[in-house]
Amino acid sequence: MKLQSRVCEILQIEQPIVLAGMGGASSPALAAAVSNAGGLGVLGAAACGPRQLRQWIRQTREMTDKPFGVDTLLPASVRRANYEDSDGPTPRDLLPERQAFAEEFMRKEGLEPPAGQPPRQEEDGPPLFTQAFFEAQMEVIIQERIPVYASGLGNPGPWMDELRANGTKVMAVVGAVRHAIQVKSSGLDIIVAQGHDGGGHNSPVGTMALIPQVVDAVGDTPVLGAGGISDGRGVAAALMLGAEGVWVGSAFLASEEANIFDFQKQAIVDATEEGTSVSRTVTGKPARIIRSKWTEHWLREDVEPLPMPYQGMISGPVMAAANKGERGDVNPGFAGQGIGMIKSVRPAKEIFDELVWGAEQALSGTTNLMR
Ligand SMILES: Cc1cc2nc3c(=O)[nH]c(=O)nc-3n(C[C@H](O)[C@H](O)[C@H](O)COP(=O)(O)O)c2cc1C
Repeated sequence: MKLQSRVCEILQIEQPIVLAGMGGASSPALAAAVSNAGGLGVLGAAACGPRQLRQWIRQTREMTDKPFGVDTLLPASVRRANYEDSDGPTPRDLLPERQAFAEEFMRKEGLEPPAGQPPRQEEDGPPLFTQAFFEAQMEVIIQERIPVYASGLGNPGPWMDELRANGTKVMAVVGAVRHAIQVKSSGLDIIVAQGHDGGGHNSPVGTMALIPQVVDAVGDTPVLGAGGISDGRGVAAALMLGAEGVWVGSAFLASEEANIFDFQKQAIVDATEEGTSVSRTVTGKPARIIRSKWTEHWLREDVEPLPMPYQGMISGPVMAAANKGERGDVNPGFAGQGIGMIKSVRPAKEIFDELVWGAEQALSGTTNLMR
């Protein structure tokens, strides 16, 4: 008996375990390791400019001959988030004040502000997270004829014809039934239901409640469960809730291959299940993150973060300074509530094999629960 489902046929993989596209962290080395282990590795390319994205796709192809995916965000959702309030000061008006707030924080923490703009933004394609940026990414995704595309926010509908013409399988991450119904209407292959427990941008609805409700709403479109799944029991539980596979992020963050700093891997190993909170302090959208001096400072001072993309302009220099100073207490990174289960940094293949083994054990054990 092996862990297998319809998702394996659709994605041409051996086990229905997919590495979540985690921006920057799900690198070519990590995606290739998961694909080589028998799952699907998905590159976290949300912030990759077109040149870096093409490079990442090519590097992944050099490290695996198995299918892999690319995850980016899509413009519609960001256009909606770029709103400017008609009453009162706009986010743009509030930007200088909030930047001064961040500079004061850096001074207090002894963080050295980085000089100048990050070079990638100047050299690689349109400005980050603008509509032109997303379109430039999609152009590369279509030219490179990748096996699988996943949209982390928004609806891949406008690109479906071109993706289909390349034979690319398409997935979208959703956090509510109404979003699942919207993306299903574009005729995609798989829907990822990511609940509140998950790391990064997430849903207000808990994973346990979200998965079965999305499954019921989308008919015969297969669903991957996500959010807080960090061991085989979580994989089995998602399958019991009607999912046909899982989309796992944080469990793979503490891998040797993940493209995050060692001090961030250590912060994951050190954290308990209470170690995260949902905060808008990094990107401007609610995202589950390891609690830090930065997230707590905004709460303590009772200051409201600005919407995306403005909050990123405020947090960016602080996070860069924290990285330079290897300050896990300021930038430990995004992660889900399952990190209390993570006890060490290991090769991705070992993590993958344990997810499969643990799920098979848990599922075969379910017969003991019936008398
Ligand atoms: C460090 C990190 C970065 C993330 N970046 C992205 C991203 O760029 N795009 C996206 O669709 N989801 C992103 N997510 C969410 C993941 O794709 C996934 O839904 C989540 O990790 C699942 O929950 P888990 O971490 O509890 O497994 C990120 C999550 C983490 C932990």
